[in-house]
Amino acid sequence: MKLKKVLAIAMASMMVFGLTACGGNDAAPAATDAPAEEAPAEEAPAEEEAPAEEAPAETEAEDAAAEDADAAAEAAGAGGNIGVCIYKFDDAFMTTYRNALQEILEGKGYTVTFMDGKNDQAEQNNQINNFIAQGVDALIINPVMTSAADQIIATVKDAGVPTVLINREPTAEQMSAYDKLVYVGCDARQSGTMQGELILDTENKGDINGDGKVSYIMIQGDPENVDAQYRTEFSVKALTDAGIEVEELDLQRGDWDRNKGQEIAQNDLAKFGDQIEVIFCNNDDMAIGALQAIQAAGRKVNEDIYLVGVDALDAALNEVAAGNMTGTVLNDAQGQAEGAVQAMEDLLGGKTYASGEQSIYVDYVKVTPDNVADFQ
Ligand code: BGC
Repeated sequence: MKLKKVLAIAMASMMVFGLTACGGNDAAPAATDAPAEEAPAEEAPAEEEAPAEEAPAETEAEDAAAEDADAAAEAAGAGGNIGVCIYKFDDAFMTTYRNALQEILEGKGYTVTFMDGKNDQAEQNNQINNFIAQGVDALIINPVMTSAADQIIATVKDAGVPTVLINREPTAEQMSAYDKLVYVGCDARQSGTMQGELILDTENKGDINGDGKVSYIMIQGDPENVDAQYRTEFSVKALTDAGIEVEELDLQRGDWDRNKGQEIAQNDLAKFGDQIEVIFCNNDDMAIGALQAIQAAGRKVNEDIYLVGVDALDAALNEVAAGNMTGTVLNDAQGQAEGAVQAMEDLLGGKTYASGEQSIYVDYVKVTPDNVADFQ
């Protein structure tokens, strides 16, 4: 995607970084199953670190503090060492995100090291510990498992390393344990709702066969990830909230993976045939896989079946433009990477975050054949 267009989109969206600190999701995380050997030392209550209430920087004192923070961040940029942990390199969306982070950080003069968690939390815990032992100035972490958030937060707090979490959002309560920690990402409920709206915007509101209900299959990402949970829930909720009857023919986890998306769609198309009116995919990579199965089954998107994803990967944008996907939702990797670096620099400049204000969100954007050219 072209940077200029992304910036235009980011500016057009109403959210402004640094001002849009929201409460985190309040979903209870799955039970922590952190490896025993990684268990952090008991933490003393963090009362002494409780920051004063943070308001948008409008007073002179706050302006001055912001300038100091900028100066400190610039100094760090001259030689700061940043450790970045990605849950796994072999993920289409996180590859785009990682490339954006690298370009921004290196462009600002940081020395940055990326580690591949290989979808293994124990491996990532070691990588975090190694970064801490090396004395990195800040960490940017895309956790492998949301359920490991408590442990990750305790570890970075213990070491006093400013940390930005990305892509997998812990709860506000978990983050409140450490005031030099912030989450930058998107509110996945919004992307789910937009997927539902893409179906509502079709001429028959998803009811291709006119039987009074929308029959769909749901290809889910890794269900441990709140993005997968919310997209699954809110895509369908958008339909039912609009008074549409729905029928779930199948729901299966495709773990964000193209091949799994293809396999699930192929099996379901063989099993349910024309009954399937909509295929919801929690991300574009699985949607591209599903499209291969749709085409192999001789079905035609937007004529006898609808297909939606999330991310706006380049491949998906091409398929939307060609009419082979009903639509997708921009998961703004560039905007999130810029936000993560900005938040990191704020932390390096001494900023702390009050409990309940540790989630910074970037807006999702609906992508249809009408506006797809703006994203290509
Ligand atoms: C993206 C997926 C990606 C996942 C990784 C999601 O926000 O939509 O494509 O696989 O993050 O955690």
